Amino acid sequence: MAHTRNPEGTDRPRTRSIDVEKARSDTPGCERVVHLNNAGASLPTRAVLEAMIGHLELEALTGGYEAADLEAPRLDRYADAAAELIGASPDEIAFSENATRAWNAVFWALALGQRWQPGDRVVCSRAEYASNYLGFLQARRLLGIEIVVAPTDEAGALDIEGLRASIDDRTRLVALTHVPTHGGLVNPVAEAGVVCRSAGVPYLLDACQSIGQLPVDVEAIGCDALAVPGRKFLRGPRGTGFLYVRRELAEAVEPIGLDYHSADWTAPDRYELRAGARRFEQFETSQAAKLGLGVAIDYLLDLGIDAVAERIDMLATGLRARLGALARVELTDTGHVRSGIVTCRVDGADHAELKTILRSRGFNTSVASAPSALLDMGARGLDTLLRASVHYYNTDDELDRFAEALEGAIRG
Ligand SMILES: Cc1ncc(COP(=O)(O)O)c(C=O)c1O
Repeated sequence: MAHTRNPEGTDRPRTRSIDVEKARSDTPGCERVVHLNNAGASLPTRAVLEAMIGHLELEALTGGYEAADLEAPRLDRYADAAAELIGASPDEIAFSENATRAWNAVFWALALGQRWQPGDRVVCSRAEYASNYLGFLQARRLLGIEIVVAPTDEAGALDIEGLRASIDDRTRLVALTHVPTHGGLVNPVAEAGVVCRSAGVPYLLDACQSIGQLPVDVEAIGCDALAVPGRKFLRGPRGTGFLYVRRELAEAVEPIGLDYHSADWTAPDRYELRAGARRFEQFETSQAAKLGLGVAIDYLLDLGIDAVAERIDMLATGLRARLGALARVELTDTGHVRSGIVTCRVDGADHAELKTILRSRGFNTSVASAPSALLDMGARGLDTLLRASVHYYNTDDELDRFAEALEGAIRG
């Protein structure tokens, strides 16, 4: 069995099965809801909750800065844990309040810091999330860049040869989404990494929906930067995330919007950027949330991402089989490889209404709508989809009950 070292220096087995009962008893929310909105925000563990509440209490009783001094080593744990999870170094990790902020920090550091010119190009995929595409559009409006959407293959995944053909000497960045918000697709991001490396173009990956449910290893993928939220499959608190920036790239770019943490004011007319990815961070942020993120990633490291991915795959496959058997339900997931995000269209139904009915019966789902992924949903003629996203703490029994509840809600 393969092993990694955990922070205490003991062996951490990489492959083992999940103790679902324990995972559920560690998760207070499991007693109350059938949570199938993990692509929105997962249920945190009790340990995450207690770490955050404990720190808020400490701040109230001793002072915010004093509490941070007392907890200093634990507050930075998120960076070591994140680095271990994705195969990076802690100096390549920066805290971020969400994935979009992390993504924008790198995108604009490249666009403005490297002074992109009219006619420079960004290559992306059709699965791009709205927030990222808004960045492309804004750079097009402000800087005159061109946006190139690499083709998809017959299964709806990024076409690798198409990506290769989309890159030319005007390409300044390849920015891709690993797993989109609106379906089970898993893009071939490691193959894309090979293409980017051979073209010598920086590669920014949106790992928003893949981190915590699939192995994400920056060396295996070959990306130069990675944007991650804490609240989704990592099971961290809302308002958290992190940014990975490869050391060479971090040292070569200038983040936009500095503060007295990302840079030092060394003389009245001079400043020096902080070393490594920390130049992308800002000083003020929720310390309790940061602490919670570290606890959440440690919990995942103890479980092992391979075991998590295996269980999610098993549950998602089972959920697709259950939903596919229901009248009026059409599964809409694409790709050669599928994630734990299961989407469907229910003929003649209002998906938002279905979601509300399901919630009133104790089942959390969500609705993906076209403006969240306009290129792909638009091309496929999709307006809204019902999205049920599983995590390892879900059970077959929950999925049986969910399928039954959905059938009942459809019948009305
Ligand atoms: C694929 C994808 N990228 C980016 C984001 C944005 O993440 P955040 O809300 O943390 O900025 C989301 C949010 O759902 C997403 O699904």
